[in-house]
Amino acid sequence: MRKALIMLSAVLISATGAKAGVWETNCSGCHNGVVAPTKEKLLKTFHSKGAFLSKVKEVVSKGKMPAGLPYEKAAEELYGVSTHHVSRKSVKKSGSRAVSEADPYAKYKRFFKPLPALPPVPADNPLTPEKVKLGKMLYYDPRLSRSKIISCNTCHNLSLGGDDNVKTSLGDHWKTGGRNAPTTLNSGFLKVQFWDGRAPTLEEQAKGPIQAHVEMNATPELVIRRLKAIPEYVELFKKAFPGEKDPVTFKNIVKAIAAFERTLNTPNSPFQRYLLGETNALTKEQKEGMALFVRYGCTACHNGPVLSDGQFHKFKWNNDLGRYKVTKNPADKYKFRTPQLLNVAVTAPYFHDGSINSLEEAVKIMAEKELGKRLSDAEAKKIAAFLRSLTGKVPLEARILPQLPGNNPE
Ligand code: HEC
Ligand code: HEC
Ligand code: HEC
Repeated sequence: MRKALIMLSAVLISATGAKAGVWETNCSGCHNGVVAPTKEKLLKTFHSKGAFLSKVKEVVSKGKMPAGLPYEKAAEELYGVSTHHVSRKSVKKSGSRAVSEADPYAKYKRFFKPLPALPPVPADNPLTPEKVKLGKMLYYDPRLSRSKIISCNTCHNLSLGGDDNVKTSLGDHWKTGGRNAPTTLNSGFLKVQFWDGRAPTLEEQAKGPIQAHVEMNATPELVIRRLKAIPEYVELFKKAFPGEKDPVTFKNIVKAIAAFERTLNTPNSPFQRYLLGETNALTKEQKEGMALFVRYGCTACHNGPVLSDGQFHKFKWNNDLGRYKVTKNPADKYKFRTPQLLNVAVTAPYFHDGSINSLEEAVKIMAEKELGKRLSDAEAKKIAAFLRSLTGKVPLEARILPQLPGNNPE
């Protein structure tokens, strides 16, 4: 069992490796025989590429799989292209890059990377449906807070783009922490967590808000005591962490939440579909915005699959010292981690203090402070239009409220 889990994790980790094929990068993470059927099983069930793709259409339309993934390419990889050529008129594919002669903006694609379906999964916390299910319940359960009225979803509302759309979040006793809540969507792809990067992983990150006075203001002991008093939760922890004698621990609470967060990805935005070869997924204005985004050098920091380099850059904006608070290194004063830009259009207000409401204005401020350039209104509007194409669909499964067990079982 343990060996199987280690192997599974190795597959999941390699899922985002640079040389991995489409199947490895985008499909094998779920199609591991636990969440969905393995490659071997699929090859046995579907004898031709055509049959495979029509099944894919069906499951995607039912919302069981993320839309916008390169299914066609995966089918090519699995079944070969010898008998079923793609029609000549459609997008010509060269290597991993889709190039269309009809699209003069296609040359800008190389500055971006499509988002894989799953982020890297740490070897000691493999994804299983049981753990993701438990993590989802904990994410939505306000009993993780002292007051029993604040859950992760209060500030990272999965129907509102994974944040709360207020300047700075209201926590326990209506206190605010002075920083804007970033989205939890695609957070598994971030190299470090928080505006100042003080947590390296989602597991470490989740320990913070449960205990922070300005957020949920609980203690590990309090939360464990509450959960252990609910038999249904004890049962769910046993299923999610099989073989552990006393699985209701703080470590497992944050592991389950982190596992759930790794499923909150949006590889289906118009921009992702554009990167994968759907030339008309972006409007002309959005393509012009993309070109400006590259030409002005926004990609110097906003790069990689979530448009964040994971590095710290100076943004002197108010008296928040940023990264310096973590490292105490004077060179880190006023430095903040580049935030991701996926779904940025639905996560206003902007910047670490949520002080700016308009995306166009945030874009102008960035150009001025980070690049020393003044943008015209028209340019800012185009870049903002491009950023709006980064909005994807939150997986339906994550938005369906879980049924939480009551405190007083019958
Ligand atoms: C986020 C998880 C996830 C990802 C990523 C994913 N799938 Fe799926 N896939 C599923 C689930 C769940 C099902 C549904 C299984 C069911 O209906 O019981 C499914 C079903 C399928 C089926 C139909 C299987 C059957 O027997 O009916 C095919 C074919 C398929 N996926 C191909 C792919 C390909 C190709 C990729 C990558 C490009 C991919 N999937 C990526 C979760 C995923
Ligand atoms: C009271 C509101 C509030 C609650 C409740 C809350 N958060 Fe947050 N969350 C924030 C704020 C504000 C930040 C940014 C703080 C900072 O960077 O200093 C944040 C940051 C994060 C980040 C980092 C994202 C990034 O881009 O760096 C993740 C992930 C996250 N929270 C997940 C969670 C989880 C999981 C829970 C529940 C256990 C939770 N949060 C509960 C307000 C909240
Ligand atoms: C030198 C690195 C760097 C460059 C270049 C850069 N950014 Fe940023 N960007 C950052 C950092 C760091 C932040 C976080 C600022 C803060 O502390 O609030 C940020 C924040 C943002 C935000 C707000 C995101 C949010 O969720 O609040 C937007 C939008 C944005 N950048 C767009 C752009 C655009 C458009 C350009 C090009 C005109 C650009 N950036 C150039 C580093 C950079």
